[in-house]
Amino acid sequence: MNLWNNEPGPASNVVIPEIYLDAAATTPPLPNVLRCMDRIQKDAWANPSSLHGPGLIAAEALGRCRAQIAAALNAEPDQLIFTSGATESVHLALLGAMDQQPVGRLVISAVEHPAVEAAAQVLVQRGWVLERWPVDATGVLKLDQLDRLLAPPTRMVSLIWAQSEVGTLQPLLPIAASCRERGVLIHTDATQLLPQGLIDWSSLPIDLLSFSSHKLQGPRGVGLLLHRQGLIQQPMQGGGGQEGGLRAGTEPVALIAGLAEALQTLPHFDPFHQSTPPGATPQLLGWRDRLQAQIEAIDGVTVLHGETTPRLPNHLACLITTAGGSPLSGRRLVRELARRNVACSSGSACRSGTVQDSAVLSAMGVETALRQSLLRFSLGPWIDLAVLDQVPERLQLAIRASA
Ligand SMILES: Cc1ncc(COP(=O)(O)O)c(C=O)c1O
Repeated sequence: MNLWNNEPGPASNVVIPEIYLDAAATTPPLPNVLRCMDRIQKDAWANPSSLHGPGLIAAEALGRCRAQIAAALNAEPDQLIFTSGATESVHLALLGAMDQQPVGRLVISAVEHPAVEAAAQVLVQRGWVLERWPVDATGVLKLDQLDRLLAPPTRMVSLIWAQSEVGTLQPLLPIAASCRERGVLIHTDATQLLPQGLIDWSSLPIDLLSFSSHKLQGPRGVGLLLHRQGLIQQPMQGGGGQEGGLRAGTEPVALIAGLAEALQTLPHFDPFHQSTPPGATPQLLGWRDRLQAQIEAIDGVTVLHGETTPRLPNHLACLITTAGGSPLSGRRLVRELARRNVACSSGSACRSGTVQDSAVLSAMGVETALRQSLLRFSLGPWIDLAVLDQVPERLQLAIRASA
């Protein structure tokens, strides 16, 4: 039986809206990912911990996926812990590594995803001191704070590598190297970075790294925590002894196979020599810049980043006002654009169900009235340039309808 035989099958068609510009929220699964999952679900459906024939087939499939993912990331297979997504990975990283340690200071950036904030608050309830690393107006961490923030009693640092709402990339490597020198543990939430380029785990001075499969055209419901051996001392929940005893629960082999398949399509990112991850296709950056130039020409649109800010190659965040300068509601604009077949977002998908202030924009010093006016366009290789060129006109119509 060939578990990797990706013959076209009924599961290969995905319906994508005409102009889907919300990659940072989630991405459409690749046809080969769906075919691979379909096959694994049929052929290796059993519990990989079972000792009978079907169980051994599932265990073999799981082992092959683990090896394939480890090879893609240049990690050891036992440095991978499969989770349900980045939210769980982040919690396992912070709580699994620190819960049994003496209390100290945890430093996170002022622009973290709510998942990191939530995990950090659990440690605060257990006596930890939490400090947020400030950022400048572009969302980049202020490096002049490094010595103060890495000094005792700091025991752990958790920094988002690529920010989801505004796309800013952080100078993670110099900070991670300083953490290493000082014996401070460092975790990064790389959920938005990984889709733009595979990292070489063995070369990075990072202890723990989280990401989620659905941001990189894999399935929803599976994520990964990369860890250096011995750092995760405590699973988050009890039960079975899966994942080396560090994550209880029957492994979703088909989802993991989908993740393995999706990773194969990504280019490599060498953060030691490249300032920006390459993105899934060479054209992506050009498309983003072209869209940026077109929408910047519209009265009332202010793109958050200048030429020099390091940011994700597929990300475009802007604040929208009327031509007269009155802030418009990003949520209203998203709905107006959706009516015109453009799918985008007004910030983090995890916030967008509720009207909340953006802690990220606040940390960047954006004035209160404007913080509801964010529009985020995030691109992926499924987009075709001909339809992308229609976005500026539809945005103008949406602005007129929202004013
Ligand atoms: C930076 C970042 N971290 C964590 C998450 C949470 O990922 P998941 O929903 O897969 O748990 C997201 C998803 O929006 C994200 O963008």
